[in-house]
Amino acid sequence: MTASSDTKKVFRIGMLGFGTVGAGTAQIVLHSRPSLKEKTGIDIQIRRIAVRDMKKHRAVSIDPALFTSDGQAVVDDPEIDIVVEVIGGIEPARTLILRALKNGKAVVTANKALLATHGKELFETALAHGGSIGFEASVCGGIPVIGALRDGLVANRIESIHGILNGTTNYILTRMVEDKVSYAQCLYEAQSKGYAEADPSTDVKGIDAAHKLTLLSNLAFHSIFDFSEVHAEGIDGLALDDVRYASDLGYAVKLLAVAKRRNPGADPEDFPGGLELRVHPALVPFSHPLANVRDVNNAVLIRGDATGEVMLYGRGAGMMPTGSAIVADIMDAARGSARQTFTKLQFFQNPREDMPVIPTDKIRSRYYVRFNVDDRPGVMGKVATVLGGHGVSIASVIQKEPHETGFVPIVMLTHLSVEDRFQAARAEIESLPFVRKPSAFYRVED
Ligand code: NAP
Ligand code: HSE
Repeated sequence: MTASSDTKKVFRIGMLGFGTVGAGTAQIVLHSRPSLKEKTGIDIQIRRIAVRDMKKHRAVSIDPALFTSDGQAVVDDPEIDIVVEVIGGIEPARTLILRALKNGKAVVTANKALLATHGKELFETALAHGGSIGFEASVCGGIPVIGALRDGLVANRIESIHGILNGTTNYILTRMVEDKVSYAQCLYEAQSKGYAEADPSTDVKGIDAAHKLTLLSNLAFHSIFDFSEVHAEGIDGLALDDVRYASDLGYAVKLLAVAKRRNPGADPEDFPGGLELRVHPALVPFSHPLANVRDVNNAVLIRGDATGEVMLYGRGAGMMPTGSAIVADIMDAARGSARQTFTKLQFFQNPREDMPVIPTDKIRSRYYVRFNVDDRPGVMGKVATVLGGHGVSIASVIQKEPHETGFVPIVMLTHLSVEDRFQAARAEIESLPFVRKPSAFYRVED
């Protein structure tokens, strides 16, 4: 592939997988082949497609003779220049990609789970064998955020990334809140539309967003961060009551991915510098651009030292948006630019800058907290006293009408606090005799 790619005009694709993303990719290649050729002079042809079930009906009509159940035959085919891996998961995707790279193929993948956990091995193998790995489709579906961080924002020292990186959970939150549809029904819809992962618990538990944040952080902060260093919480425990109370206070609840630099000495509590790296449901003020990202859409707000805030927005999952990102990487590989960029990228190769990941109990945030308490005099004062005793200052309070089961929800927003102080106060309040466990808390990102 590399030797002749300057003059070569026809590129043959081998596909591993033909599910949601594979079918979207094929549909774009089949329909846009003439226009892609006109724009770039390059002709893309699908030569083979490996699937698990040869009998399955396919969403896109394509020559049945192209299908095989033998993924190895695809990566070993000498006629194939570019291997597109859209199987997902770790194995056999990892073994097939490694083999394709060793066979000198360019690889394009949407597999963030694999890259976030085995990126070093894969990128080293690609470099050692003169190959490249395109992974634009692995983060935020059709939004070109990898290219933006790698190229468009290269002049910047990235200060922070705040993102809605998972389409399934954003779809679920939108439908539950706006249309009052049950959680189970929303999840079923997200699966039917092809948004969810094969194991949807990775979506709803924040793991998929944490995979994506690992990739973005490695690129943005030019350091190796491991997936295991990302603190991940999901939306599976979220109570609709809290979403409503948050709304009364002027906030939307979103599954947010946050990577935020903290400079040494910048903190009054004298923490060392480092990077906050976390995924969790968070309250975002309605006036914030991320609060208005609805449905399956994703958005990434990147703060660079030169640009200030840059926001990228669009569909974060689904066959066509993700297929668009795959085809962009195919064209990049065929043009030869992928290889050139890849050699210089040092992705997963660069040593860790002096930037430890800040433990979650040392992050600083504002907090939303709800305590269910008995409806009797003096309760509010005692709760406030405990918070004050831990140095946690209250920004606003609402006491809701008594719940039908007899308790009263007290909902508070705090000022900035270190998480361990806030959690110590919360635990102490939960142990008071008039407080019913569990309380609920969410971080606030203003
Ligand atoms: P999918 O619909 O479940 O498709 C997976 C495909 O892989 C199927 O065609 C399946 O074959 C095939 N496959 C499974 N095991 C195989 C094996 N051992 N050998 C050969 N083929 C095998 O998954 P998807 O939603 O397209 O996702 C694919 C990848 O893209 C994942 O890494 C995912 O995280 C990523 N991604 C997905 C989206 C999205 O919106 N869905 C967006 C961005 C990134 P059968 O069809 O015969 O079962
Ligand atoms: N399951 C993922 C999501 C697919 O819902 O965002 C896109 O990466």
